[in-house]
Order: sequence, then C-alpha cells, then structure tokens
Amino acid sequence: MNEERLRQAAHHLLEVERLVVFTGAGASAESGIPTFRDARTGLWARYDPSELATRSGFFRDPGLVWRWYAWRRRLVEEASPNPGHQAIAALERHIGQVTVITQNIDDLHQRAGSREVLHLHGSLLQYKCFEEDAPRLLPEGALEADKPPRCTCGAPLRPDVVWFGEAVPREAWRQALECCQECELMLVVGTSGVVQPAASLPYVVKGYGGKVIEVNPEETDLTQVSDLFLAGRAGEILPRLVEIAFDGRPGGEDR
Ligand code: OAD
Repeated sequence: MNEERLRQAAHHLLEVERLVVFTGAGASAESGIPTFRDARTGLWARYDPSELATRSGFFRDPGLVWRWYAWRRRLVEEASPNPGHQAIAALERHIGQVTVITQNIDDLHQRAGSREVLHLHGSLLQYKCFEEDAPRLLPEGALEADKPPRCTCGAPLRPDVVWFGEAVPREAWRQALECCQECELMLVVGTSGVVQPAASLPYVVKGYGGKVIEVNPEETDLTQVSDLFLAGRAGEILPRLVEIAFDGRPGGEDR
C-alpha cells in the first residue's frame, strides 16, 4: 500500500515549485538523537521538562539545565545527518524553492546540505545572555563547567533555544508563515504535532490551498490534516520518495 502512496507522493513532488519540509525530532531519530515523547527512550521519559526547558527551571537550578544542554550538544556534535536529512537536502536540486522549517535544535539539516532552514525552537549551538537576550560566544571550557558562564553584564548565558512558555523567534515565525502560505506542498516529517504554534503550520498550508504529505512510523495529531500518510521512518521513506520522483540517487553530503 505504501508503494502506491509513494508513487502518488512522488507525482506531487514532481509538480511543485515551492515546497516546505516541516520536521520534528523524528527526523533526527535515526542519527541517534532521542525524540521527546517516545515512552521508553524519549528525552522527557528520563527528565522532567518543567525542570529543564523552562525559565523557572533555569532559575531553580541553572547548573542542571546547563549540564543537560551541554550533554545534548555533545550528542549532536557526535551525530551525523541520516539518509532522511540527505534526501531532504537533495530535493533542492530538483525543486525551485525548498524551505525546511524545523522544530529541532540540532544542525543536521544544514550539515546534510539544506540551505534554507528556519529554526522555530532555536539552536543548541548558539548562546545568548539571559537578561539582554542578545547572542554571546562561549568562553573556553564553558561546556565542561558545572554551571553557566556569565555575560559581561553579570547575567548567566543560556542556550539560544525556545523554552516552554517562551515565544518562537519572531523573524523565523514570520518567514515560516509566509512560506506556508505560498507553498504548494508541505512534507511533514517526524513530528507528533502537539506543540504550538509550530503544529498549526500544516493547517496554514491547507488553508491556503496547499497539500500536506506526512512521513511518520505512527499516525499523529496531524494525520487528519494530511492528504497522504506515508508510514515509516524518514531515513527509509524519504530517499525512496526522491528516487521514485526524480529517478536518481538521493545523494547529499555531510559538510
Ligand atoms: P516528538 O517526540 O513529540 O515526536 C517525534 C515524532 O517522530 C513522533 O510522532 C514519532 O512517531 C516520530 N518518529 C520517531 N522516529 C521516527 C523516524 N525514524 N522517522 C520519522 N518519524 C519518526 O517530537 P516533536 O514533534 O519534534 O519543543 O516535538 C515538538 C517539540 O516538543 C520539540 O521541538 C520540543 C518538544 O517539547 C521545545 O523544546 C520547545
């Protein structure tokens, strides 16, 4: 059944000039980065998000939050893009405009070669001053330290990620909305679609007349809005899709 759906999805891909690929933790799962909501291995299964990904958690125990993000950063640095990331990057060779909108705070899309990547939840590899909300470089050895380093203003530095209760970055959101309004097709890859406002984006695409194709081993909250559901892992489905649509190898490089 997937084969027929893959062919239909490939047919759509061949027709579009503007594509959005909307990704979540599942896109990086095959690179060895845990998702959030997997009951056994998900990040939230081992840790309490309210202690680690909130401002109040950071106030309570800045060292704990600092060490948790340093650990996640190491995981990302040791990981490589998987065939799903590479297939997404390869789409740029065949489709006029491809924008990746990701909820992931890793840089695996860029390392696979995707050029236009909007980070809705920030980046694990960048830091900012907690008070001034402005980008800052890390001093030497900061990632091995027990607590966050201080900005020249005296406030602690924090990873430049979006915590619960915080707004998504204004400019990334503006661009994401614009792309979703203009695209003919959105590929939704590896997200449970439960965190707002990101999860509203497929509805924006539909509202503006675009189609939505979802790739996920499990059905999600977004399956109901999807025109096609491709059951399976991103690293298996996406290379196959690119191959069927464009009759070539997915390619892609880790830069
Ligand atoms: P979730 O952990 O909620 O969902 C991951 C999704 O990926 C699930 O639907 C899985 O079925 C699917 N999945 C797992 N392995 C996959 C694979 N190999 N290929 C394709 N799909 C796979 O992660 P997100 O939806 O990204 O926000 O979570 C959204 C946000 O919630 C995160 O950005 C984070 C979290 O709270 C913040 O930290 C602000």
